[in-house]
Amino acid sequence: MDINLCRIENLPRIADARGNLSFVEGPTLVPFDIQRVYYLYDVPGGADRGAHAHKALHQLMIALSGAFEVELDDGKRKKTIRLDRAYRGLYICPMIWRTLQNFSSGAVCLVLASERYDEADYIRDYDAFLELARRPGTCA
Ligand code: TYD
Repeated sequence: MDINLCRIENLPRIADARGNLSFVEGPTLVPFDIQRVYYLYDVPGGADRGAHAHKALHQLMIALSGAFEVELDDGKRKKTIRLDRAYRGLYICPMIWRTLQNFSSGAVCLVLASERYDEADYIRDYDAFLELARRPGTCA
């Protein structure tokens, strides 16, 4: 998979003096059916999350509160994206090694996922990821 398939989606923002509202709706804003929602919170300073890839999972990641960085790696190139707005979603396609780091205090990372939790979909060994990533047509 090419890192350039990962992209920032600007979500709708309904500005209101009482507070802003954003939403995520398929199929245009998320290019997959949402099967699962999970969130990271109470992340201690200096902790990293992620450090794995998925064989088939598509995700949309949003900094609902606070900020953090997502390092993306397709086996050939890396890029780091800072998420710090609740109206921005980062779409991550399958076969991208991702590491979440530099969480601000109080950061909440919301993830919309295309599949239910399945440990068999994870690649947690970086060398195994590189080998699979270099093999064309291995994954969805
Ligand atoms: P993991 O995906 O490794 O966390 P992160 O990528 O955010 O660092 O998951 C951590 C643990 O939580 C692991 O034991 C699997 C479990 N888990 C679930 O049971 N369901 C889920 O939806 C997720 C994302 C994780």
